[in-house]
Amino acid sequence: MSVRASDKAARFTESVIREMTRLAHLHGAVNLSQGFPDFPAPAEVKEAARRAIEADVNQYAITWGARSLRQAIARKFERLYGVPVDPEREVTVTCGSTEAMMATLLAILNPGDEVITFEPFYENYGPDAILSGAVPRFVKLRPPAWTFDPDELARAFSAKTRAVIVNTPNNPTGKVFTRAELETIADLCRRHDALAVTDEIYEHILYDGAVHVPMASLPGMAERTVTINGMSKTYSVTGWRVGWTISPRSLTGAIRKVHDFLTVGAPAPLQAAGAVGMAFDADYYNHLALDYRARRDLLCGALTDAGFTFSVPEGAYYVLAHFSALSQDDDVTFAKWLASEVGVATVPGSSFYHKRTLGRSVVRFAFCKQTETLERAAERLAGIQARV
Ligand SMILES: Cc1ncc(COP(=O)(O)O)c(C=O)c1O
Repeated sequence: MSVRASDKAARFTESVIREMTRLAHLHGAVNLSQGFPDFPAPAEVKEAARRAIEADVNQYAITWGARSLRQAIARKFERLYGVPVDPEREVTVTCGSTEAMMATLLAILNPGDEVITFEPFYENYGPDAILSGAVPRFVKLRPPAWTFDPDELARAFSAKTRAVIVNTPNNPTGKVFTRAELETIADLCRRHDALAVTDEIYEHILYDGAVHVPMASLPGMAERTVTINGMSKTYSVTGWRVGWTISPRSLTGAIRKVHDFLTVGAPAPLQAAGAVGMAFDADYYNHLALDYRARRDLLCGALTDAGFTFSVPEGAYYVLAHFSALSQDDDVTFAKWLASEVGVATVPGSSFYHKRTLGRSVVRFAFCKQTETLERAAERLAGIQARV
C-alpha cells in the first residue's frame, strides 16, 4: 500500500482564508480576513435554539431537513420574490451553503463536464469543481463595475457545459448582478441546456438601492436553477452550519441522496431556530443592510485614507482593494506584512483567481465586524504610510 493522498486532494491547497485567520491570532492582528461577524446573533434566534435543545430536539432531523424549516424557506422565497417553492419536493437543508454547493455539484456533474465560474470567485468553487470531477472555465469580471463581456461568456460555453455558477451579491467583489446581466446568463443557459447554480448567501446585504434578483425568478429559470443559501450571513451564525438548496424537482432526489451520504443532516435544534429567523419581517433585513452600510463606509474611508484603491461594494461585506500605490510586493507577501507589521489580517487576492498572478496586487478586507473592531483596524491602517 502506498501512503499518499488522492490526485484530487493534491490539486488544491488548504484554504488560504482560514490560514489567514490563524495568522491573525498569531500576531494579535485585527482579523478582517475570514467573513464571520464578531457581533451577536439575533436574540430571538438564539432563544429558539435554546428552546429546541430544552425540548430535546437532539436527534437526527429528516435527512433533507426539518419540515418546519423547509416550509419557512419556501414561504420566504415566495413572499420576497414571488416564486412558488414546494418544501416537500424542492428544498434540501444541508450543513451550510458550503455543503449545499458541494452536494449540488456532485449531484449534477459527470467527470469531464464543464462548469463556468466568474472570476474573481469565492475560493471554494475551485476545489468544489475538482472534487466533482468537472473542468472549470473562467469568465472575467472587470472593474470598476465588475461587469463581464457577454461575448467572452458566450465563448466559454461548449457542448460540455453543464452549469454556470453565479454568486450575487458577490464575494469578493461586492458586485450585485443586474437583471440584464442575469438575463444574458439565463439566455445562454437556455440555449445550451445548462443549469444555473446561484449562491445567494448575501441576498439581504445590499447598499445604495441595489436590488437582489434571484436567477430562479427570471422567466423559465426556476426549472433550470439550483438556488443556494444559508443562515450564516443573514442571521450572523456562521458556526451553526445550516444552509439549503432550492432545486427543480427533477434534481432534488439526486441532491438529497448526495447530501445524505455526505453529512446525514444539518444540526436539528439549529434548524428549528432557523425556522424562527426565516419568519422575521422586512424590518430585520432593512436594519441588517443599514448596519452593514455604516460598517462599509467606515472601512472604505480608512482604506482610501491609507492609500488603497477599490470599487465601493454594492452588496456583501468585502472590499477587494489594490495596494499598488503602497507596495510592489506580491499579495501573499503584502498580506503577511500587513498582518504582522501593521496588525490587520486580510486575504491575499490570488485566492480568488485560477491564475494566481491575476490577484497579485489586491487583498480582500471583510467588514462584518463591530464598529470598535473596524475603528481599531482604521487606526492601524492610518499608520501604514509611515511603515511602507
Ligand atoms: C459566497 C459564499 N458562499 C458560501 C459561503 C459559506 O457559507 P456557509 O457558512 O453557509 O457554508 C461563504 C462564506 O464566506 C461565501 O462568501
